[in-house]
Amino acid sequence: MADTHHGTAFPEGFLWGGATAANQCEGGWNEGGKGLSAADVFAFRDPNNATSGADIHANCDVTDADIDEALAADDDTRYPKRRGADFYHRYAEDIALYAEMGFKVYRMSIAWSRIFPRGDEQEPCEEGLAFYDRVFDECAKHGIEPLVTMSHYEPPLAFCREYNGWYNRRSIEFFCRYVDVITRRYADKVKYWLTFNEVDSILRHPFMTGGLIESRWTPEEFPAVVRQAMHHQFVASARATKICHENIPGSKVGCMLTKVTFYPYTCKPDDVLAAQRRMRETYCYGDVQVFGAYPHYLLNDYQNRGIEIHQEPGDAQVMRENPVDFVSFSYYMSSCAAGDAAGLDVTEANTTTGVKNPYLPSSEWGWQIDPVGLRVSLIDLYDRYRKPLFIVENGIGVREEPDDEGRIHDDYRIDYLSAHLAEAKKAILEDGVELMGYTSWAPIDLVSNSTNQMSKRYGFVYVDADDHCQGTYDRLRKDSFWWYQKVIAANGADLSAE
Ligand code: BG6
Repeated sequence: MADTHHGTAFPEGFLWGGATAANQCEGGWNEGGKGLSAADVFAFRDPNNATSGADIHANCDVTDADIDEALAADDDTRYPKRRGADFYHRYAEDIALYAEMGFKVYRMSIAWSRIFPRGDEQEPCEEGLAFYDRVFDECAKHGIEPLVTMSHYEPPLAFCREYNGWYNRRSIEFFCRYVDVITRRYADKVKYWLTFNEVDSILRHPFMTGGLIESRWTPEEFPAVVRQAMHHQFVASARATKICHENIPGSKVGCMLTKVTFYPYTCKPDDVLAAQRRMRETYCYGDVQVFGAYPHYLLNDYQNRGIEIHQEPGDAQVMRENPVDFVSFSYYMSSCAAGDAAGLDVTEANTTTGVKNPYLPSSEWGWQIDPVGLRVSLIDLYDRYRKPLFIVENGIGVREEPDDEGRIHDDYRIDYLSAHLAEAKKAILEDGVELMGYTSWAPIDLVSNSTNQMSKRYGFVYVDADDHCQGTYDRLRKDSFWWYQKVIAANGADLSAE
């Protein structure tokens, strides 16, 4: 569809940038006093073995035996997240590349286990704190505002193993100590914060998000365990918001949701209802963090499933009094829902499953590409929450290698991103949505969350490394690098490839 707003810019002060996460880009897993995290024991598995939704879930699962095996391995070849994209050693070079593209904002995360190596200490690790000082100073040098996720898939391993991660009520105390330390330390350096990345993802990968080693419970027990852990994250998120506002007056704290827009497969009322139910499943977590209370329909769902969560006095109050300031989300694709999905093609993407939309193309990993779905999502989220929105992840993973001249002509990435940005622009200008900014996932190639592959590349910048941490890790600008630079320079007035 043509961009009718060609020549029209995004609002003044729009925060253009890119998004990464420590567990996928940082590396330096055993340096600077860092403790091991869940990400460091997640071994590379052939993602081609994951063919169904259940397999995707299993592919993200980690048992105690897996962890013992990981602890015996002191290298990174089978554990690509230990090496990431080597940001730990190359942050200055990477931030300079972001500055060259004109970034106004850089979304990144702090690795909890770099600050509290086990998660339960009283005192933080100074070397870890000093590392992020250097990163934020580098951003400041280039006039880039950091947007920091407090927790992005890397609970400290000792916290997972010895405390059962977020299932343990003490998780709130440990996490809030960490939040207090980082918000005091970086009070002059970081104004924008997110609490938990894709807070709903604990249902899809309980270990990476919640530090839950699923095999420790029976399949009957586990659904309640996850909801209890999620409750602790909700309370911790509200308390983190409060701590952040107190320690950094004027700071802005957002929630972060996985936005998969579900369409009815047909206009059959049963399909419409099925899509509505899937959407509610994705909204309920935002509802808690924006409205400050569990929506009745979620509690009703728990009751129907026989799930009881334990809440302590004061939980409801802290959640009510500390809603988020803005709503951020990832958007990669849409999907369909049907009342009766028997015989219909299914897609597995971004660790969710849905019915395949016959009108949409897919990425190599089966993620259905749908720019209009971003506009639909923006309108839905804005109408529901009436808070400023922030697209903090959007991008396409592709296998790519430099050609003989050392160039990567990633016109498909330019097409994907420009089409999505055109829809975001329409949502702002035609639909009246308030959008603070856009950070693409990811400005640089890094290790995939769901498949652990380096070869699933998202960046404007190529990293010379394979799935087994072999390579120079040298950086190379792709064609999209220059395109994004031009887009930012014109504040989105020109999204074209020329
Ligand atoms: C988001 C996550 O869901 O999707 C990121 O917040 C992740 O951590 C991104 O990397 C892309 O998914 P994947 O599995 O391709 O890395």
